[in-house]
Amino acid sequence: MPAKRDHTSTDTFDVLVAGGGVAGLSCAYAAACSGRSVCLVDRGELGRATTHVAAGMLAPVTEADPGERALLELGLVAARRWPDFAQEVERASGQDVGLRSTGALVVARDRDEAEALERVRALGAGLGVEMERLLPSRARRLEPALAPTVRLALHAPEDHSTDPRLLVGALAEGARRAGAVLRTGEEVAGVVADAGRVSGVHLSSGAVLHAIDTVLATGAWSATLPGLPDAARVPVRPVKGQLLRLRDREGPGLLERTVRFAGGYLVPRGDGRYVLGATQEDRGFDTQVTAGGVYELLRDAVELVPGVLELEVEEALAGLRPTTPDNAPVLGRPEGVEGLVWATGHHRNGILLAPVTGELVVRALDGHAPPPAFAPARFVEAPANVEVIA
Ligand code: GLY
Repeated sequence: MPAKRDHTSTDTFDVLVAGGGVAGLSCAYAAACSGRSVCLVDRGELGRATTHVAAGMLAPVTEADPGERALLELGLVAARRWPDFAQEVERASGQDVGLRSTGALVVARDRDEAEALERVRALGAGLGVEMERLLPSRARRLEPALAPTVRLALHAPEDHSTDPRLLVGALAEGARRAGAVLRTGEEVAGVVADAGRVSGVHLSSGAVLHAIDTVLATGAWSATLPGLPDAARVPVRPVKGQLLRLRDREGPGLLERTVRFAGGYLVPRGDGRYVLGATQEDRGFDTQVTAGGVYELLRDAVELVPGVLELEVEEALAGLRPTTPDNAPVLGRPEGVEGLVWATGHHRNGILLAPVTGELVVRALDGHAPPPAFAPARFVEAPANVEVIA
């Protein structure tokens, strides 16, 4: 770990990070650990937007779509990094990140859902992730709270979870101890750009922060940032997810593992708290919790785990996933624009991808081109009227 450097007296940094969610904090932490001077700016409190709502599942196969091959492979790399990453961040910060290595059960209620489970199992097997098929009696031996309506289950022993709110605190403290300056309550009003070079950001207060490289980790708001050169823009849209945070007054014990089902999941935190999520809705920047959303979540969860009815509702929330057209993140420099690195578009996988987000962004800062599947340039359309000469 590099010695802590004092950069508080200057407004010029090696790296400026816009956005203090898990993506921005992972980048700030990794960049500070690489010996760079780092300043991160967030308009609110750290991790209070999408990360605050995230369930924290580390589930590369059961969370992804079979067609998303590059994302699946990146997710698997990230999942395998997680135990070391958690240990490193905990050592660097002195704070727990809430990693729970309990695995998950993916359950089906009818024939269609059972067939979908078979497809997930085959997908995992093709990627070297073994998931065992369990008859209902065995599934209920592992999780006695499951209802008899379960027709088939998959045991995903490698699907773990972490607590995103703890992770935010630990990454922030780790970044601070490595010398990063974290500025909260200051809105990035736009990017400072001139002749294809980004040189920092200006804040709504009128202050300007300069940096050799600006990392944009602005989540669902990435496409709306003023001042970006056209060549640097990426198509990120918000995808709303509503969820409930539930608590068992009797303490832990209802579920040990995450239970996933068609359209949702129940993630135990291990202390009697559970996250029940999540809807997936294209509704722009709307974060309203609706009766319909809550009904949908409870209807499915109660059918599978009737004991959910006894839990207290602690919070009802909605967050905005930052989503690209191919659901894969954008991690690297855009072509034709200097001084800019993207770290956005994590869709359903921001927590899972935290270890590789920081690593790929530091690689970009070191001058490496991004993997093509995650490059900003993949969204730049080829000119329509180019003639191909054989
Ligand atoms: N990663 C869980 C979700 O996006 O709902």
